[in-house]
Amino acid sequence: MPISPYLLLPRASYGRGLSAVTPPAPSGSGADAEAPVAEDAQLFAVPFAADLAPEVGLPLPAAALLAHYEAKGEAGEVVEVPVANGETVGRVLLYGIGDGSAGALRKAGAAVARRGKGRAAIRIVLPEGPVAAFVEGALLATYTFRIGEAKSPPVAVIEFVGDGVEAEVARGEVIAKAVTLARDLANMPSSVKTPAWLAERAAEQGVTAKVWDEEELRAGKFGGIVAVGQGSANPPRLIRLSYEPEGATGHVVLVGKGITYDTGGLSLKPTEGMKFMKTDMAGGAVVIAVLGALAALGVRVRVTGLIAAAENSFSGTAQRPSDVITQYGGRTVEVLNTDAEGRLVMADALAYADAELDPDVMVDIATLTGAIGIALGKDLGAVFASDDDLAAELTGAGESTGERLWRMPLIDDYAPALDSGVADLANIEVGSSYGAGSITAALFLREFTGKRPWAHLDIAGVGRSSVDEGILSKGATGYGVRLLLEWLSSR
Ligand code: BES
Ligand code: MN
Ligand code: ZN
Repeated sequence: MPISPYLLLPRASYGRGLSAVTPPAPSGSGADAEAPVAEDAQLFAVPFAADLAPEVGLPLPAAALLAHYEAKGEAGEVVEVPVANGETVGRVLLYGIGDGSAGALRKAGAAVARRGKGRAAIRIVLPEGPVAAFVEGALLATYTFRIGEAKSPPVAVIEFVGDGVEAEVARGEVIAKAVTLARDLANMPSSVKTPAWLAERAAEQGVTAKVWDEEELRAGKFGGIVAVGQGSANPPRLIRLSYEPEGATGHVVLVGKGITYDTGGLSLKPTEGMKFMKTDMAGGAVVIAVLGALAALGVRVRVTGLIAAAENSFSGTAQRPSDVITQYGGRTVEVLNTDAEGRLVMADALAYADAELDPDVMVDIATLTGAIGIALGKDLGAVFASDDDLAAELTGAGESTGERLWRMPLIDDYAPALDSGVADLANIEVGSSYGAGSITAALFLREFTGKRPWAHLDIAGVGRSSVDEGILSKGATGYGVRLLLEWLSSR
């Protein structure tokens, strides 16, 4: 069970006693909550307010308690107040909501839900405002990934209390579940997660799926995907997912990097860097999860998702540094470093989209370069864009969903870094007269986008978290799902 199941209860169940309430059938498609649990195992949480209703059972006026605890009401702040519970002492959590913005509510939801860890249930009275963000934060904060029998305590059933917020709560759940799927896919060990396995998961998303196997990729002249995948016992796949709502308002193509494991190939990575490379398909996971959530969110634009899936292995059949490959569409590339594989598979998918799908706009998302993590750290994703409006739209969607993006330059002066003596392009710069590894990688991709409006999200820095805190848990973050869903919902 990756995130908490939840119930939505009417406001009339404001009081603490679960026994007083007969919960309605679980809300939300995946909520598999059972009957109410014993009261002593549950927690009750309400937003800070000076005039809390007497049903909450506070021992003193709320204002006095808040002053006593020096609570400021900031988002993420949670104060635990002892209350009488028959013969025993119960507890009520008072939580802050800061400025009440979506970002603040997301943070508040995460902080409160984390207090439910190890308990059977937590009942949370919803705040006013953008409730979807609160629900999203609460559900994501309870995300866990484990293989085998769970040894950790079961996640609490979350009982949200509020009236007239069904749609908002459902939206928060859809988004949290999409992020959960992206995290689950990226956290899955690569021994299981072959390109074929990834294609099977993609085909389960309720949208039309087409999958090219290795032979079809060869026949279709997808030379980049074939070259990267040829060293692995697990052959590559190209996955196409199509969401086609009636009366679509436009056509967006999303392209995700789906390297199911990146050893570096013959340009082998050291263990220190290699052990994180099961998440090198995080961009592809985001595209799969986004495609799966579009219908539930009522997105009106047509969306095609392409996931270029391959395992970059070290073997006798692997491509060699100095091999020349032919990408989809006929451009030749001198592969000078087999660890710069992401751009090779992405180039095929972008060129295919440009040639065959006639999109109004293309957005790709990839754990493309270690250099972007150095430049922007773990909290900021990078956006490169050929179009200012597109860059502004994506940056805006990132602001409002808390998946912030920083625009990076596609500076033409650096393009000669990719000149090759023997092919149309080299896949990396030889030497370091230009540097800027993330920019030259983006410039490489640009070569395959035609003249279309295109944006490239480099999530190598933000695709994994090393902390279990707020809405994040250690491992895959699902970064990009929320901002892309927000952006697509607004088109
Ligand atoms: N998958 C890596 C990028 C990466 C690094 C993602 C660290 C997440 C964390 C990519 O395929 C890669 O190996 N890039 C090389 C490019 C270099 C060979 C030009 C890199 O970043 O070192
Ligand atoms: Mn690599
Ligand atoms: Zn890679």
